[in-house]
Amino acid sequence: MARSGKTDPALSGFYKKTRGERLDALKASCSVPVDQLRVLSQDASLSFDLANLFVENALGSHPLPLGVVTNVQVNNKNYVVPFAVEESSVIAAASNAAKWVMQSGGFQSECLGREMIGQIQILDLNPADFEIIAEKIKAATVELIDFANLVHPRLKMRGGGTRSLEVRSFPKSEIPFMVVHVHLDTQEAMGANLVNTVCEKLAPKIQEIIGGRIGLRILTNLADRRLFRARCEVDFQQLAINDHEYQLSGLEVARRIHEAYVFAKNDPYRATTHNKGIMNGVDPLVIATGNDWRAVEAGAHAFAARSGRYESLSKWTVDEQKQVLIGELVLPIQLGTVGGITRLHPTSKAALQILGNPSSEELSMICVSCGLASNLSALRALVTTGIQRGHMKLHAKNLALAAGAKPDEVEHVAMELVSRRNVSASAAEALLESMRNTPEIQSKIPLPHTNQEL
Ligand code: MEV
Repeated sequence: MARSGKTDPALSGFYKKTRGERLDALKASCSVPVDQLRVLSQDASLSFDLANLFVENALGSHPLPLGVVTNVQVNNKNYVVPFAVEESSVIAAASNAAKWVMQSGGFQSECLGREMIGQIQILDLNPADFEIIAEKIKAATVELIDFANLVHPRLKMRGGGTRSLEVRSFPKSEIPFMVVHVHLDTQEAMGANLVNTVCEKLAPKIQEIIGGRIGLRILTNLADRRLFRARCEVDFQQLAINDHEYQLSGLEVARRIHEAYVFAKNDPYRATTHNKGIMNGVDPLVIATGNDWRAVEAGAHAFAARSGRYESLSKWTVDEQKQVLIGELVLPIQLGTVGGITRLHPTSKAALQILGNPSSEELSMICVSCGLASNLSALRALVTTGIQRGHMKLHAKNLALAAGAKPDEVEHVAMELVSRRNVSASAAEALLESMRNTPEIQSKIPLPHTNQEL
């Protein structure tokens, strides 16, 4: 059944616009303040002074392309989502799938929990006493939580703080040890520093109660108490494919996407690539907002292996009666909107502004939805035309650039490479050379896009 969501007319044909027109469209669509857009229109938006503050031995910065995924609808709200990513086709793929989903009613997303976990390891305890020791810690839980909350009183005042403890035992490992998990709501922060400080302060207090020797005190990135779910129901008609090479009904595409999911659920080799396709829609937003993408990556892949076997993070099923493909993705997402460099890096600040300055919870829901969009787009291509057709169009541009094409020549070289079905570095070089020696072709190349000043 068609349930069309409204795409934003200001963003229509975004990819065809000049940079200035794109920035104007953003201004109209997301009410981004002009000074934030100015940051985006500068090529080097991270000054050396800031880079030097952020890391040691700084020499400069390493910019990535920053673009936006359009038509993302999550919980009935429309977003333009900034992506920082080097891989061609990631933004186009996510935008395509986001539009199919928007036109089918959008993503529904929810927070399933918002606690980070800190780990305190205790060694040199007798494994025969582990059960009694665990009981001692449980008996002291209230006292320990109160103590932990004194470490960050303002976090507690803002509604966050330490909520509960859990004791885990490893009596049979080569060196027996126990671990106390500290469950902490870090509110708007990603929370690594908050969690680590609490663990370091709390560890001696635990040691006073149970003895032993304190080992590691650090958060875990397997943030399986900070989970976010995205769900979508995609109308068959959005999935159908009908061009000069391929004709497949939406039902057939949906069935094949289900088969692709079954492949990824059962085979870790396929699951790894399937999940990489999901992370194509997650990491670029994590990076654009100045968050720790290694943490999110590590958490996602560990979570994918929670059953004991590495599996697909998403699930795709078909409802033939409703005529929809149903997608679902649950991810541990540890994102902050304060702390770290999120509010210091000018591009991250602008990225958050484009999103309407969401809370960490809202940002995470957008993030998991974009992961599902990327996954859908990759699967639809894989089960129909194959991934190379779409990839090649964009890859051809990179090859043209690498062959030495000037910005105004790139499009022409890329289009020729694709239409000749020979997308290779040598073909790009040969084509560029022959093009430059053929005045008739030269005169057909459009003038370069001029960037409008803000
Ligand atoms: C490429 O960046 C991502 C894919 O390999 C994902 C997948 O295979 O599902 C296309």
